[in-house]
Amino acid sequence: MGKTGREIVKANVSEVISDLLKAYSDEWLAHYQYWVAAVWLKGVDADTFRQVLMEMSQHELKHAEKLAKRIIQLGGKPVLDFGKLLSTSGCGYIPPPEDPTDYVKLIKDIIKAEECAIKFYSAMVEKYRTTDVVTHEVFEELLEDEVEDEQTWEDFLAKL
Ligand SMILES: [Fe+2]
Ligand SMILES: [Fe+2]
Repeated sequence: MGKTGREIVKANVSEVISDLLKAYSDEWLAHYQYWVAAVWLKGVDADTFRQVLMEMSQHELKHAEKLAKRIIQLGGKPVLDFGKLLSTSGCGYIPPPEDPTDYVKLIKDIIKAEECAIKFYSAMVEKYRTTDVVTHEVFEELLEDEVEDEQTWEDFLAKL
């Protein structure tokens, strides 16, 4: 990032990086949670859910990429040690249910992950509104997507 790009950041840069890293790890874990659920689940509605999960899993990976770009712009580095993703994350990881036909549990757990992301991103949007507008924008974009994701799963749950 250039001189002026750095100058407009009024927030504490290491704090911004640490918030971004938390989100980055959450996105990776969500990516994996949805992906592994997609390959694991089976039953009558499996194909519909599998498709949605795979698609959403890709969106979460794109989110991780956006966050990684901002982390690097600010002079930080993404989590390079895969084993550290869990300890860096804020929302943690919920494995898919042992029973691959338990859609209700699967969807409820996904909604929990989305809820956690919505709460965190919403706080971040407020936190960086005036002190780091670029980071603010990144969180705002992600927040919009997670709000949509939550709705998608609530709708599915209502139909089960
Ligand atoms: Fe996401
Ligand atoms: Fe999401």
